[in-house]
Amino acid sequence: MSPQIQTITLTRPDDWHLHVRDGAAMRDVVPHTAAQFARAIIMPNLKPPVTTAQQALAYRERILQAVPEGVSFVPLMTLYLTDNLAPDEIARAHEAGVVALKLYPAGATTNSDAGVTDIRKTYATLEAMQKHGLKLLVHGEVTNADIDLFDREAVFIDRHLIPLRRDFPELKIVFEHITTREAAQYVAQADRFVAATITAHHLLFNRNAIFVGGLRPHYYCLPVLKREEHRQALVQAATSGSPKFFLGTDSAPHPAALKEHASGCAGCYTAHAAIEMYAEAFDAAGALDRLEGFASFHGPDFYGLPRNTGRIILQRQDWRSSVTVPFGEAELKPLRGGEVLPWRLMP
Ligand code: NCD
Ligand code: ZN
Repeated sequence: MSPQIQTITLTRPDDWHLHVRDGAAMRDVVPHTAAQFARAIIMPNLKPPVTTAQQALAYRERILQAVPEGVSFVPLMTLYLTDNLAPDEIARAHEAGVVALKLYPAGATTNSDAGVTDIRKTYATLEAMQKHGLKLLVHGEVTNADIDLFDREAVFIDRHLIPLRRDFPELKIVFEHITTREAAQYVAQADRFVAATITAHHLLFNRNAIFVGGLRPHYYCLPVLKREEHRQALVQAATSGSPKFFLGTDSAPHPAALKEHASGCAGCYTAHAAIEMYAEAFDAAGALDRLEGFASFHGPDFYGLPRNTGRIILQRQDWRSSVTVPFGEAELKPLRGGEVLPWRLMP
């Protein structure tokens, strides 16, 4: 048997799907991400959502103010696609450095009330995006009440993604936070215009985590965790070496009181230990040698951005993550807070 790997050195990774919220709460979470990642794609689902180039620039400025002194971190901005986002806003967004638009089907998840009610209504805007090279990031779930919650991602592929790709073959699409074998297979077989992000929690947990030993709201996110066979398909995709799969934490902070609630919010907070959890998942699959491609290369290559030059070091070393983290006026409970994690990011 080969000796266990104790240390991994990686090109500094990026997070291609992140929620940081705004205001005082944002100032508590941005430092976690900035300590690990060089860049992050910032989700626009604020209340109200970020829908103009000007709002994205102002939000970017507020995020930069939250980055600790001496740390370099680049927020990559997105706009929230609505039924009536004007096509001419796309040129302004492109000019302002906005890299993508986020498609939330209306009602799919946290703060998605302004989401798209019918994709066809956005076709003129998608046309402009294809022309300017802006990416489309999709929350790939249908919202129809008659479709079982666990099937909503697979149904989205047939009903929406396949027609969308036929109508916009050169629009670069990221199928965000995929959770099923169907999505992994679809992306693996698609052409170079399609890629997917995968979260650390969907690589580490199946849906039992939400229910075992009592209802555990901190494991509730959307798209919801799926069966073990799906988790295994995601691990296979992430560790396959395919450039179509890359890191996106979907770290989504909520006050603990709103998750431990009769109608608890969807979202897992993982920014405090994201790269460590990915290392754990790749290690369990015997694929630590594939982590750097997934975490540091495939994302920038797909987005057409330069790879980072700095490095990070992870060590096999048990440490206990915090049970709570301040979150503005409230506090949040990170996923696996208080647990011992086997990989540690070195300062
Ligand atoms: C996200 C949030 O809280 O903003 N929640 C989640 O469960 N992932 C929204 C999202 O990305 O779906
Ligand atoms: Zn998200």
